[in-house]
Amino acid sequence: MKNSINQITVIGSGVMGSQIAMVSALAGLKVYLQDISEESLKKAEESLSGHMKKRIAKGKLSSKEVNEAFSRLHFVTSLEEAVKETDFVIEAIVEKVDAKRQLFSEVDRLAPSHTIIATNSSTIVSSKLADVTNRPDKVCNVHFFNPVLVMELVEVVKGPHTSEETANTAVELVKQIKKTPILLNKEISGFVANRILGKIIDEAIYLLENDIATVEEIDLACTKALNHPIGPFALLDLTGIDVNFNIRQILYEETGDESQKPQNIIVEKYTNGEYGRKTGKGFYSYNF
Ligand code: 3HC
Repeated sequence: MKNSINQITVIGSGVMGSQIAMVSALAGLKVYLQDISEESLKKAEESLSGHMKKRIAKGKLSSKEVNEAFSRLHFVTSLEEAVKETDFVIEAIVEKVDAKRQLFSEVDRLAPSHTIIATNSSTIVSSKLADVTNRPDKVCNVHFFNPVLVMELVEVVKGPHTSEETANTAVELVKQIKKTPILLNKEISGFVANRILGKIIDEAIYLLENDIATVEEIDLACTKALNHPIGPFALLDLTGIDVNFNIRQILYEETGDESQKPQNIIVEKYTNGEYGRKTGKGFYSYNF
């Protein structure tokens, strides 16, 4: 294994993947952001440029820093090109085990033998993926929070197959990209932050579905009584109701526990394609 990480690859150019790539490029790493969809890559580039312009306008970053970061950030559709010389892969594609397993097996075939392959998933622990590779000791979860450009914490999760060296390298990478790591020594679905957050969201949905208070009022209770930066419904719109639906579906399928099933309001919004900010409508409406 190499001592320092010079090049990383992020696979999947959605909201999470694109911002993981940007923070890494801003921290000085050479980054490949890969997606099979040209359109998704273009959207990612536009969105990142928009965020960077705002930071330049606020004086938080200089144009030079941003231009240099973009010169280190490569948007590509070819998986081979993206991983052939990389030190560290972070997968941030759809929350579906089969899709991730197929991708991990391809990356294992194409990437150098020293490369660590991590998933950004909070629900799919890396032991569900490691066995399709010939390097299970170099597989782990590296889980970021939305919006990645802002949220400081990253959870590094060691599976039973993950070597100490891999976990340490992942923790060092998180520090290298100027985030704060916590290391979980054992796999547990949801990890730390989302398990706590999940309880808050469940309670908010219970209160809404039982007509106790409105979306706006429940959010106000969290922002004005508990000092949360945004309420649980605004947060669901930010992170994606589709993501929440998929996560709950996986938890339900894994455990058979009826209480883990996506709640009616989540199913309704998911079925209507109301995923939150990304579709312009969720619990709130957005005009961009
Ligand atoms: N993407 C990137 N940056 C964003 C952003 C977005 N969608 N929305 C806001 N920002 C940035 C702004 O540019 C600004 O940056 P600056 O400080 O460098 O200028 C900063 O965030 C503050 O933005 P605003 O002043 O416009 O708005 P707020 O003060 O309301 O902050 C927020 C926005 C940071 C999103 C804040 O509401 C917040 O912290 N919310 C809670 C987020 C949270 O709980 N995330 C965890 C979700 S769980 C998760 O991610 C798990 C995963 O598994 C899905």
